[in-house]
Amino acid sequence: MISRSKTSPEHVEVRVLRQAAPQQRSYWERFRVAYEPDMNVISVLQRIAARPRTADGQDVTPVAWDCNCLEEVCGACTMVVNGRVRQSCSALVDRLLEENPAEIELRPMTKFPVLRDLMVDRSRLFRALEKVKAWVPVDSYHDMGAGPRQSPEAQQESYPYSQCMSCGCCLDACPQYRKIELIQRDDETDEQFAARQAATYDRNFVGPHAIAQAILFNQNPTGQMNADERVEALTAPGGVQVCGNAQNCVSVCPKEIPLTTAIAQAGRAATVHSIKRWFDR
Ligand code: SF4
Ligand code: SF4
Ligand code: FES
Repeated sequence: MISRSKTSPEHVEVRVLRQAAPQQRSYWERFRVAYEPDMNVISVLQRIAARPRTADGQDVTPVAWDCNCLEEVCGACTMVVNGRVRQSCSALVDRLLEENPAEIELRPMTKFPVLRDLMVDRSRLFRALEKVKAWVPVDSYHDMGAGPRQSPEAQQESYPYSQCMSCGCCLDACPQYRKIELIQRDDETDEQFAARQAATYDRNFVGPHAIAQAILFNQNPTGQMNADERVEALTAPGGVQVCGNAQNCVSVCPKEIPLTTAIAQAGRAATVHSIKRWFDR
């Protein structure tokens, strides 16, 4: 239950780190929004969008942000709120004012290129899922009958990993996950730029979310058919060996996914895979 101060504030001060477009300089803007009980950060941003005027009375462009499900399922609204990366749809104003009664501070995530204001390009996160083949392949749409059975114990073990919503909190908090911001060259076609981006992403750390998804699909009885390919991707440059075991990821994951357990499991699988490959030479 949220405890409210006996005298609720009349206004909420909101400081937003803004950026007009990729590669441009960022700047702070302060807004003042009339307080209402039970607001979340998205409703604060909606009120700013409805009347985009700064606290000192200047009319400005509306603040841009992303959201979709509004119930902490899609991950699209992730941003840094009062210094902690989290979902703005489930960040409640009353609770944030308990953390800091003076203001709410909003910034875009720090490890992804900013598209505009609080919107970032998370395509690198999805590229990592492609790299580790985080899916179960099907080779047709006709009914192929029941798949192999999975015991309730195995389902129980896999379930936490299946809750990942690709929000990127774990990546934003990870010291081994560095920001990469590439610019398309004048002599480069869109396809060439996309290929250069994919190759750059593939050389860098895949991140804890992709490691956990590789483990999830390797635990799946049908997914096991591609287990070696996933472990191969986890042993390649940018794989599980990059993890420095700082454990920031597990402490910020909104779904409380046991990321460090997945990383330990992936590390053991990578070692076995490397030894096997050495004997197979
Ligand atoms: S445990 Fe590994 S993946 Fe998690 S934050 Fe630390 S370095 Fe990053
Ligand atoms: S593992 Fe957790 S923090 Fe990381 S992307 Fe998935 S839900 Fe978000
Ligand atoms: S809008 Fe989907 S998680 Fe917040």
